[in-house]
Amino acid sequence: VAEEVTALVPLYGNKRENTLHADRLVAAASCLSATEMLQSGAVDELEEQLAKRCGRRYAVAVNSCTDALAITLRALGIGTGDEVLVSDYTFVASASAVARAGARPVFVDVEADGLMDLSRAEAACTSRTRALVIVDLLGAMHDPRDVEELARRHGLWVVEDAAQALGARYAGRPAGSVGEASCLSFDPTKHLSAPGSGGMLLTDDPDTAERARMLRYHGRDKAGLYAMVGYNSQMSTFSATMLLLKLDDLDRWQHTRMVVAQRYLDAFEGSIRVVSGSRDPALEHAWQKFVVASDERDKLAAYLADHGVQSRKLYSPALHAHPVFAGYIAADAALSRATRLAETCLSLPIHAFLDDDEVTRVIEAVLRGAPG
Ligand SMILES: Cc1ncc(COP(=O)(O)O)c(C=O)c1O
Repeated sequence: VAEEVTALVPLYGNKRENTLHADRLVAAASCLSATEMLQSGAVDELEEQLAKRCGRRYAVAVNSCTDALAITLRALGIGTGDEVLVSDYTFVASASAVARAGARPVFVDVEADGLMDLSRAEAACTSRTRALVIVDLLGAMHDPRDVEELARRHGLWVVEDAAQALGARYAGRPAGSVGEASCLSFDPTKHLSAPGSGGMLLTDDPDTAERARMLRYHGRDKAGLYAMVGYNSQMSTFSATMLLLKLDDLDRWQHTRMVVAQRYLDAFEGSIRVVSGSRDPALEHAWQKFVVASDERDKLAAYLADHGVQSRKLYSPALHAHPVFAGYIAADAALSRATRLAETCLSLPIHAFLDDDEVTRVIEAVLRGAPG
């Protein structure tokens, strides 16, 4: 393991984290002798802690952020005949959740930093538009007031896809606190990662929380009757126990990622375009990803691989170009910025388990491998 670790700068930190904190895996495993494997007290405790961290009243733990998004939309009553605005440049789940709820995803172009262009969102509103899925891409956030004002003007629900942004803040507002409901991911590539899949939805509305709790387990109500068609999307006691053990490290890990990001930002200035730059001073970025853009992205990726640096093309092609969404794309859809990002973006290693020398290796490889 040690040899592999020194040879390759890994894109994600989860393997190193699990090696360094193997004691946690052992400690959490003790919960496996308890009788409640699912939805136990550990899950309740995790819900409470994350609701508090994000400034929300209610939290509902589920099996993934993908499920959290679909359950949220259904809990808000979104379905057939409704349109939901969603960014064209994001992970597939932000949009497939809309289709799963029976509604139509309407793809909106993005700005240079990959966040949804809110003026385009406004222009795309019709009488059928019911909601906006706002993605905190790469760990950045919009100014929540801009999003909520847009929603108010058009009578839309806002669902915040905060899968990448736990720990980010905008003018003191935490990611996870924007709109009617927010969705978190604990997948192994995220900075609060479960031993498997995991997610959570957060809301201040008791009815939305109650419907979400029913939907997560087959639509069962408090009387034990199945009142609507739901899912089986529970969180395991083991996952919740592991996640609780990691909560104390979140702020320290975020600080480490910020230090790495600052080194990259300083080193790349004037040499290569950074997509995940801080949009304005009010934003505290979660730095879930550090993304650069290059016209010769594939060559750069190959150069990095040859020099022991893992990287990944990000969301390529843009969502509107995937077959699953073919039926939803308007002939006049203007999505050129998302298309361009999809053709040029490359995600570099950023996590709390990189050492200084590795960051230097990434910087040197990028500067040597970037054309021009
Ligand atoms: C922006 C975004 N939304 C949703 C998801 C889905 O999360 P999960 O893997 O927990 O279903 C991800 C995860 O990769 C994501 O990055």
